[in-house]
Amino acid sequence: MSATDAAPGAADPNQAEAAPLAGRVVLVAGAHGGLGREASLACAAAGAKLVLLGRKVPRLKRVDEAVARAGGDAVLYPLDLEGAGPDDYAEMAARIGDAFGGLDGLLHCAADMPGLTPLEHTDPAAFARAIHVNLTARWWLTQACLPLMRKAEDAAVVFTVDDPARTSGAYWGGYGIAQAGQEAMVSMLHAELAGTPVRVSALRPGPMRTRLRASAYVERNDPHAVDPARYARACVHLLSRAGVARRGQIWAPPPAGSGT
Ligand SMILES: NC(=O)c1ccc[n+]([C@@H]2O[C@H](COP(=O)([O-])OP(=O)(O)OC[C@H]3O[C@@H](n4cnc5c(N)ncnc54)[C@H](OP(=O)(O)O)[C@@H]3O)[C@@H](O)[C@H]2O)c1
Repeated sequence: MSATDAAPGAADPNQAEAAPLAGRVVLVAGAHGGLGREASLACAAAGAKLVLLGRKVPRLKRVDEAVARAGGDAVLYPLDLEGAGPDDYAEMAARIGDAFGGLDGLLHCAADMPGLTPLEHTDPAAFARAIHVNLTARWWLTQACLPLMRKAEDAAVVFTVDDPARTSGAYWGGYGIAQAGQEAMVSMLHAELAGTPVRVSALRPGPMRTRLRASAYVERNDPHAVDPARYARACVHLLSRAGVARRGQIWAPPPAGSGT
């Protein structure tokens, strides 16, 4: 298959262009976060059936309503990644298998970033939570989904990651250390899944105006942060058949509409 082939379920390339996720089931973790919400709406507009995972039911419902208003189709999966264990992820994967018969895309947008603190003064529990939510839970969730995803003709695991040039610097704590771990995980998993239908890639967006960003920067001193909607199409791209071209890569596109 080449990067220009039509998406499954699409009759011709023009339809694939209009609905590049038609016929695909996509799980978005962190679906009511800044990027997660916008990516969910963009995936729905691109034709995906969505599983929206988040820890706050009222906020998940608001995303679901927005997806429905735009004509999309979603089911909710409330789950707190801090407390969930491998059995919870196995149950989640089994339920997705029962409901949809498969899973074609997994987008990781959930992230824990409590704020900038010197490592020496970081609360031990906050450190462990950041490593867990940003690295271990992402892997446990992915691991549970892989058997379902392997059954697809083409499936994509997409991690959203931060810029290590910044987050390996002072004060980024467990969040920053987990970013370095995720880079290793992307390349390791990519190598191990070569020759399978499951592709692994990562999106490294630029600064976005979200709650996560606000935990590290004061908004009035942060003129470069953009609306997370400007990275939503990049998520769709990596999840779609066209994302084959980015297999194994950490992709750092400019925000949509920047003209670059
Ligand atoms: N914002 C940026 O400038 C920027 C730059 C580069 C990369 N990124 C990456 O982009 C991705 C999305 O970040 P964002 O900016 O959209 O952040 P965000 O708006 O803060 O969204 C993060 C989401 O993760 C959820 N979450 C946190 N802990 C969780 C848990 N224990 N269980 C389930 N969900 C949990 C949050 O839920 P609550 O709403 O309940 O807190 C929130 O919905 C992250 O991978 C981040 O590393 C962001």
